[in-house]
Amino acid sequence: MSYIEIRDLHKAFYPHGERLDVLNGVDLDIEKGCIYGIIGFSGAGKSTLARCINRLETPDSGSIKVDDVDILKLGKKELLKHRQKIAMIFQSFNLFDSRNVYKNIAYPLEIIGVPKKNIKERVDEVAELVGLSDKLDSYPGGLSGGQKQRVGIARALVNRPDVILSDEATSALDPQTTLQILDLLKEINKKSGVTILMITHELDAIRYSCSDMAVLEEGRFIEKGNVKGIFNNPKSRTGELFAKVLKEFQDNNFEEGAGI
Ligand SMILES: Nc1ncnc2c1ncn2[C@@H]1O[C@H](COP(=O)(O)OP(=O)(O)O)[C@@H](O)[C@H]1O
Ligand SMILES: [Mg+2]
Repeated sequence: MSYIEIRDLHKAFYPHGERLDVLNGVDLDIEKGCIYGIIGFSGAGKSTLARCINRLETPDSGSIKVDDVDILKLGKKELLKHRQKIAMIFQSFNLFDSRNVYKNIAYPLEIIGVPKKNIKERVDEVAELVGLSDKLDSYPGGLSGGQKQRVGIARALVNRPDVILSDEATSALDPQTTLQILDLLKEINKKSGVTILMITHELDAIRYSCSDMAVLEEGRFIEKGNVKGIFNNPKSRTGELFAKVLKEFQDNNFEEGAGI
């Protein structure tokens, strides 16, 4: 049994009354404590899958088990608990502009009624971990993209999640900041053992951070396995296209990531 086990997941939307099949039988197995890469082009269904895993979206059929708990069968109260254990970080950071850094990080603890003193201890702890101890009074408007994502990561960590869903977390950042954020995520993974799903259309992010990955195309995984193996010997059209981009990168003497 895998830590995250997804079986035959389907989800359709009905924009303008017409059926759009977005997830078409997703199967996935992820081991505890890894950083697992999910790559796919824009529109492949990556964010929909992430939103199903934390139940912001309800799939039409299939199953999602996390640590042997079928999260599609949870009642309201259990679902709230589940959500607290599955944190998410986003491309657009999703910070509250009217709250300072401290208040942004504290938010998940505030809404579940954690006492102020405990909130302060934990916020100070995660702020230090992400390197923002001196920015707690700042507002998002005064931060760089990298700092904003550090706030996003601190907020994700504050409630000691089991899983972090990283949905294009570095896609809005410049290459150098991207590396710093990926290093931070790797460090957090190593220290805390949190399982990270790195969902992205950016090949380099996966190459740098993950040993295993899956390729999403038209709502199903068409390739899964070792990152190096997939890029050296892609079996799918999407995998091939990504491998081609990688080769062009290497031909142009771009620096190699650590993952391959
Ligand atoms: N709430 C929704 N209503 C209608 N269509 C949606 C909704 N969410 C996503 N979609 C559609 O589903 C497809 C996959 O979207 P998404 O999961 O965001 O893909 P990705 O994250 O891989 O770019 C897109 O065609 C998108 O327009
Ligand atoms: Mg997306």
